[in-house]
Amino acid sequence: MGKMIDVPSGRGGRPGPASTEELNGVLKSRREFLARSMAVAGGAAATGGALAAPLGIPPTAREMGRPIPEAMYGMPSKFEAHVARRRSDVLKNRQNWSDWSMTPLQHQHGIATPNGLIFERHHAGTPDIDPGTHRLAIHGMVKQPLVFTMDELLRYPSVSRFHFHECSGNGLTDWLKPASTTVQQTHGLLSCAQWTGVPLSWLLDEAGLMPGAKWIAFEGADGSSHTRSVPIEKALDDVLLVYGSNGEMLRPENGYPLRAFIPGWEGNVSVKWLRRIKVGSEPWHFRSETARYTDPMPDGKWRQFSFVMECKSVITRPSGGMRLSGPGWHEIQGFAWSGRGRITAVDISVDGGRNWQEATLEEPVLDKCLTRFRHRWNWAGGPAMIISRAVDSTGYVQPSVADIQKTRAIMGFVQHHNALQPWSVAANGEVKNAIPG
Ligand code: MTE
Repeated sequence: MGKMIDVPSGRGGRPGPASTEELNGVLKSRREFLARSMAVAGGAAATGGALAAPLGIPPTAREMGRPIPEAMYGMPSKFEAHVARRRSDVLKNRQNWSDWSMTPLQHQHGIATPNGLIFERHHAGTPDIDPGTHRLAIHGMVKQPLVFTMDELLRYPSVSRFHFHECSGNGLTDWLKPASTTVQQTHGLLSCAQWTGVPLSWLLDEAGLMPGAKWIAFEGADGSSHTRSVPIEKALDDVLLVYGSNGEMLRPENGYPLRAFIPGWEGNVSVKWLRRIKVGSEPWHFRSETARYTDPMPDGKWRQFSFVMECKSVITRPSGGMRLSGPGWHEIQGFAWSGRGRITAVDISVDGGRNWQEATLEEPVLDKCLTRFRHRWNWAGGPAMIISRAVDSTGYVQPSVADIQKTRAIMGFVQHHNALQPWSVAANGEVKNAIPG
């Protein structure tokens, strides 16, 4: 935590850009960006020194590498061991059954979070469930109660969809002061994957909904028997019963062998280790929709259901704990997402919100999915404050903490923090959390 990581600068050093075109950050391509950076630096590579001598032959090129084993599950390079999920370094739980570990977003390339880095949040640890004995029951206000084995579910036609997955507790430690040091700690209860499974609407259709069926309860097979109520409209819209993520079966910690996946909604409703779906006429008012995951309002009351994860964005490079290696061109990168649809724009400010410029969105830009953005920034070398601000397909603009405070009471560790995340950059290049307290 808090480790300094060098962000390669576009050039070795000052002076400033070659043209006004560069100043406006409208270079046509990354290739051009790098080529110009090198030209200004007198032919030096973008991140290294001048190529005065031919490259030596490395030892790895002089010998045979590792042979291919008969069978193995491939692992990341040993040089990537620092890329790992981490528990919170702000809220220190003494136990780690009801806890969470966070995705290292600062190391994520592209929109898909590798399965071993998808964040974890559970209330009673990870159970080891044998898919051979696991059953899913659908009952309640249905004409034909049904029970499925995993083999039966895997025989159904399936769909694969990219969606973000975010815990409503993401950012909860940083409402009142900038407590977290890295983007992993401020925003790492966020991941994105290609989820594979069966649309719930198909199974509900098979069971046959009775008149008056309005709500669905999902129940998990873990020690917490985690349960949530979801309105039938959402269940029939895009809810999936998921067994796969990023091309393989779910990891145990993410719900193996079966979970509910509720696109765009708070992660808490995506019940893992799913064993039971009950159809009813009213919500059940479970613990996680009364005692937890509710939002305080200015009048002292608490809003019970805040299902949708509102539009949000964060700069991941450079972000807290990193250090810019020198003035000159840098590419600001990050993610934007919205539980209500697609991202239509991301604005970037490098002066604490006084001026904004539109960032480039990288394809694919998908519904309820992480969207990558980037923006070229010529850092003059003085103190700066960098912020991203996302807009979604409903026209909703990501708010500041002060904006949220107009409609909700902000106190301690509460849920659904989608405010702007400013990072301060000091004259020596150090990047720090600057969320206003
Ligand atoms: N489902 C069960 N059965 N048990 C749990 O503890 N935690 C919920 C939800 N579903 C939970 C659960 C919470 S609070 C979140 S944010 C997501 O699962 C986390 O999913 P993940 O661990 O796959 O990221």
